Amino acid sequence: MRKQLYVVGIGPGDLELVAPKALKAIQASSDLVAYGLYLDLLGDLCQNKEHHDLPLGEEIGRARLALDLAASGKTTALISSGDIGIYAMATLVFELLDQQLQGLEQHPEWLDVDIEVIPGISAMQAGASRVGALLGHDFCTISLSDLLTPWETIDQRIHSAGQGDFVVSFYNPVSKKRDWQLNHARDVLLQYRPASTPVLIGRQLTRSDEQIRIVRLDQLDASQVDMFTMVSVGNSESRHIINGSKEWLYTPRGYRKKLKTGGTGVDETDVDGTDVDGTDVDRTENVLQEVTV
Ligand SMILES: C[S@@+](CC[C@H](N)C(=O)[O-])C[C@H]1O[C@@H](n2cnc3c(N)ncnc32)[C@H](O)[C@@H]1O
Repeated sequence: MRKQLYVVGIGPGDLELVAPKALKAIQASSDLVAYGLYLDLLGDLCQNKEHHDLPLGEEIGRARLALDLAASGKTTALISSGDIGIYAMATLVFELLDQQLQGLEQHPEWLDVDIEVIPGISAMQAGASRVGALLGHDFCTISLSDLLTPWETIDQRIHSAGQGDFVVSFYNPVSKKRDWQLNHARDVLLQYRPASTPVLIGRQLTRSDEQIRIVRLDQLDASQVDMFTMVSVGNSESRHIINGSKEWLYTPRGYRKKLKTGGTGVDETDVDGTDVDGTDVDRTENVLQEVTV
């Protein structure tokens, strides 16, 4: 008997951003396990399938149920928004398997399930692309939820992101019971980068009620966000440019020197030794000399 569990990220909301492989996995499944909103986003694709819609907060129950259904022979898709491996359900599936392997669960049948994880476009990518290219250089994500992670750890990571001058995308910026962390994160980052640093506030990205706002870092306030919002803070080089009625945010990769000297941008390497197609290469003069002598 085939025992198949698809662990599927469906992207930020726009159906056209769901990967073809994710669509195929959902079509092939008889049972869908998800928070109801995600099934709503999928609309007709979910027709004629058994829905297992467990509410927010019942993540462990959802992962268990998905493994149980698949182990019983029902081809099952466990579904999350964005990428299912980023602050989402995939981890729990593997944590449960790990527990079983350590003898801490009583479900040997889970070990026979074939698991395929299918990635999706995460909120930070959706947001960055809506305003241009904000993730153009090194970046990180930090979840501001201290439900599962001690606040001291989160605080330490915000300082590290500031010190490293990473573009930072904050997930779970607030919740109904939690509203002070984002302002704290803003104040920490202001110790490391200018007050004028551009910030993207993206709400319900790529969905019908999408809202996008661009503010300066010193104007960012928790009152501007809710749990459907992702906040990306530029690094010290990020730029906010305005062309008529269009506004863009981007984070340069370091081409400026080359552009200034009249470079075409289509030479073999850019100023930091990265090929134009993004492949890392080491073609500095010194290295070339070493190779040729
Ligand atoms: C539990 S995390 C899930 C992240 C998801 N797996 C992803 O890769 O995008 C939930 C948080 O993701 C962010 N988020 C997810 N989808 C979003 C969207 N379409 N628009 C804005 N923020 C979103 C919000 O910060 C939200 O509080």
